Amino acid sequence: MNRAETLLVNSPPRRWLQRLYEVRLLAQLGGRTPGVRAAEIGCGSGYGTKLILDAFGAARVDAVDLDPAMVERARRRLARYGDRVRLAVGDATDLRAALDADDNTYDAVFDFGIIHHIPAWRDAIAEVARVLRPGGRFYFEEVTATALARPTYRALFDHPTEDRFTAGEFLAELPRHGLETGEQWRTRIQGDYLLGAAVRTS
Ligand SMILES: C[S@@+](CC[C@H](N)C(=O)[O-])C[C@H]1O[C@@H](n2cnc3c(N)ncnc32)[C@H](O)[C@@H]1O
Repeated sequence: MNRAETLLVNSPPRRWLQRLYEVRLLAQLGGRTPGVRAAEIGCGSGYGTKLILDAFGAARVDAVDLDPAMVERARRRLARYGDRVRLAVGDATDLRAALDADDNTYDAVFDFGIIHHIPAWRDAIAEVARVLRPGGRFYFEEVTATALARPTYRALFDHPTEDRFTAGEFLAELPRHGLETGEQWRTRIQGDYLLGAAVRTS
């Protein structure tokens, strides 16, 4: 993530949007997660982790980010949660290395705008599915190829330049890994953005 994007994702308006809009919509789409063991991929400075604990009601969150500076910021933000939070520097495509996460470990996995940063984005979805237990839920808020192609995005931010996904491509990938979005587990395309919840069925 470059400096402009770091400033944007950690800005008060983005926090406001995440807390008052994204999290409320995701909770409507997939339900809250009281008492569960959750993971967050690409936790950045840890604001999403705080919302998973406070708004979704998770008991514990294991959170990972590739950038050690972000993990350090998250560590400071989340210190008051003690052993309810475990933070690690690592890659979302290998949660065994980052978090020592076995198959079927988590009741919920959260992605607040990170998979579009990963060139091997299908591998990240496969890894989410691997660590979710059957019946576990995957919550995602993603930025589509349409947004990444816009002049403002191209001028300000750094993202993978190839194999970006549309909302349809992202949604089509989920069932290939046993993650289903159906009548109950719904998704919402909001302009250039995709939000939703899927359940691991197999
Ligand atoms: C747009 S930021 C979102 C951060 C946070 N989820 C939020 O909503 O504020 C994307 C984050 O993904 C992280 N990231 C990028 N590629 C990653 C990967 N392969 N594994 C883990 N984290 C990654 C970046 O370091 C950055 O903190």
